[in-house]
Amino acid sequence: MNTEDLGNSKILNLLFKPAGIMMGSRLRKWIMNPVKTLQGADIQPGQTVLEAGCGTGFFTIPAAELIGDQGCLVAMDTLLEYTKRVSEKVQAAGLKNVRVVKRDALDTGLDAASIDKVLLFGVLPFPSLPLNRLLPEMHRVIKPEGRMSIWLFPVSGWVPKSILHSGLFTYISRQNGVYNYRRC
Ligand SMILES: C[S@@+](CC[C@H](N)C(=O)[O-])C[C@H]1O[C@@H](n2cnc3c(N)ncnc32)[C@H](O)[C@@H]1O
Repeated sequence: MNTEDLGNSKILNLLFKPAGIMMGSRLRKWIMNPVKTLQGADIQPGQTVLEAGCGTGFFTIPAAELIGDQGCLVAMDTLLEYTKRVSEKVQAAGLKNVRVVKRDALDTGLDAASIDKVLLFGVLPFPSLPLNRLLPEMHRVIKPEGRMSIWLFPVSGWVPKSILHSGLFTYISRQNGVYNYRRC
């Protein structure tokens, strides 16, 4: 079974339901302000942004608001339950600049050099997002001068080193806990 099929699995969607509730909980918002964290990624109005592994949309709505009407946010996740939830949130917020896509981020189906910024927020490390496959795909879709911004769980300190070792991205800065990279 591939990642696409796994994302449709009823059992998997049921198992991940409690995780989804925790991801969008008030406690999380209280501990971590998503807008402040996103500001660390320096999103500009009008940009085309890919949020890979959007989950239940903790960062999706505030990111879309920062991007504004002239930009576009592609919110991508493999789990059907999560993409449904994000679509509902987007609709409830009346946002027209978000495309919710149920798809494997290792094979986004997006055009090459079509994205100004990739957001990998709270998704690394994840067994179904191995860096040796994820980074080349992110590199492919990002525009030549584009950026990749990563917010990591505190236990994932080795990830920034692995990104540099890939030779596909150079480090720019760390702001509000967000690591920013430029595409090589
Ligand atoms: C820990 S959650 C974080 C969700 C969200 N970014 C947040 O911070 O609330 C990781 C997410 O990555 C998604 N994911 C895992 N592997 C993926 C893949 N290969 N392609 C797209 N999404 C994936 C999972 O379904 C899950 O929603």
